Amino acid sequence: MFKNLFSIGQNFKSYTLVLIICLPAVTWAQTVAEGKQGAVASRSMLASQVGLDIMKNGGSAVDAAVAVGFALAVTYPSAGNLGGGGFMMLHTESGEVLALDFRETAPGLASKNMFLDDAGSVVKGLSIETHLAAGVPGSVAGLLDALEKHGTLSRQQVLAPAIKLAEEGFPLPSDIAEQFSKHQKEFQKHPASARSFMNQNKTYQAGEIWKQADLANTLKLIAQHGRDGFYKGKVAELIVAEMGRGNGRISHKDLSGYEPVWREPIRGTYRSFDIWGMPPPSSGGILVQQMLNMLEPYTLDKSRRNREETIHLMVEAERRAYADRAEYLGDPDHYPVPVKKLQDKAYAKQRFSDFNAQYASDSEAIGPGKWPEESRETTHYSVMDAKGNAVSVTTTLNTAYGNKIVVAGAGFLLNNEMDDFSIKPGVANTYGLLGNEANAIAPNKRMLSSMSPTIVTLDDKPLLVTGSPGGSTIITTTLQVLVNVLDHQMTLASAVKSPRFHHQWKPNKIFYEPGALNETEISALKNKKHVGIVPSPWKIGDANSVIRRNRGFISVSDPRNMGGALAY
Ligand code: GLY
Repeated sequence: MFKNLFSIGQNFKSYTLVLIICLPAVTWAQTVAEGKQGAVASRSMLASQVGLDIMKNGGSAVDAAVAVGFALAVTYPSAGNLGGGGFMMLHTESGEVLALDFRETAPGLASKNMFLDDAGSVVKGLSIETHLAAGVPGSVAGLLDALEKHGTLSRQQVLAPAIKLAEEGFPLPSDIAEQFSKHQKEFQKHPASARSFMNQNKTYQAGEIWKQADLANTLKLIAQHGRDGFYKGKVAELIVAEMGRGNGRISHKDLSGYEPVWREPIRGTYRSFDIWGMPPPSSGGILVQQMLNMLEPYTLDKSRRNREETIHLMVEAERRAYADRAEYLGDPDHYPVPVKKLQDKAYAKQRFSDFNAQYASDSEAIGPGKWPEESRETTHYSVMDAKGNAVSVTTTLNTAYGNKIVVAGAGFLLNNEMDDFSIKPGVANTYGLLGNEANAIAPNKRMLSSMSPTIVTLDDKPLLVTGSPGGSTIITTTLQVLVNVLDHQMTLASAVKSPRFHHQWKPNKIFYEPGALNETEISALKNKKHVGIVPSPWKIGDANSVIRRNRGFISVSDPRNMGGALAY
């Protein structure tokens, strides 16, 4: 039933799109797959299919991950992107583990108070809905650098499927059609956005063929000229011209000067496993390790699954880790982040020494932190192959469809990542996260992220690749998948499906998905003085993950959303 949407000839350039007529919506999603050679899980069935086909035709998981990244920019425009950024964790077949930072940077003309008015108050919406909200995009440089240094195929080969999808179009999945309809009014504010996401001023219907000619041309320029096809020449001209239509500050100098950075991964241990995560400017790797360090002295085996004591323990670890995030974390190239201290097991022991098994600790008054009203976007995908390559990628425009502004003539959306900076101390960002000097805006600085692409190794071999979107909930989602698999010994499918909860220090609330807490657990947590226990207004996370099992792989796409888990 889930046969390839592409038939691929010997030549990678000869992709032929096989249109499947009148398929039920379920064709656009597959949640679990098992195979011996390679596996991929992403938020888009079409993008996962691109990755699988690349591997089936001799490419590695790295080639596949790069191809999936470009394909997501076409098939999942809410978070897949050319105009955003992200992070990649990579386990190579030779056994190295690497961390690639292709986070956006603040433009050279950015300044600390750029989102404040003359009275020093935050101007509502400026860091979210405008040209000024955009950071210098990093995705194209990052994906191409990963391919050049660790891939085996050519740029043209990995970009061919994305170009084909953009140029020839594909039947629009129902969830994407719904998103277009939901954001219609915002798209209509910008003619190029309306042209991309509306059909002659009408909404697209599920199943209609959706083509993106401008985006196809941009992808072709990248295939032809590499990073210069995006950061210089016509596309750079179009980005700078787009800045001129609003109050944007991205310049030619910012674009030609953008560099992805290979950083030393956060390496920690948890019981018998090695945990590899993304270092700052993401807070993900440090916070996941810090929370695991706090949990490690406690027994969390199968018998502790879904128990109120376990939730209390994890919430208390989350509360402390997120408080540290607000104070200490930012771009390490601009601020002395105490990385070693925060990931030290002795520090976790001291930080958790006031844990009280009977009572919740005090996050102080709830204060200015508020739960976001924005939907939380970003997307995570995982790829593994039998040669020993494992790739964990989280990428984003920040909120859904970024600032909703398509670069006219170039066909891709700009991010609104500037909101991930602390735009004023004590003022929460769209995810309710607080920050301070460590994450203040400065020219060319990277804004702090929560993205947590993670690789778990056992005996030096990749075991699990996971991560998630979800703004501030990215980190707690990743933690729960890890605890579910490594401690509770759940299958990957159950670990990903299992209802989630989330606490981020401020606001002082436990948010939970339906089924995560029952009435007995809620009242037991209240007895422990947990003050706000509220149903989450959002699904928490979308943890598309892959695990090595039984000499093969199991791939799982999070059943909370339509996505594709494929393996062969
Ligand atoms: N934009 C969400 C994050 O990077 O955490």
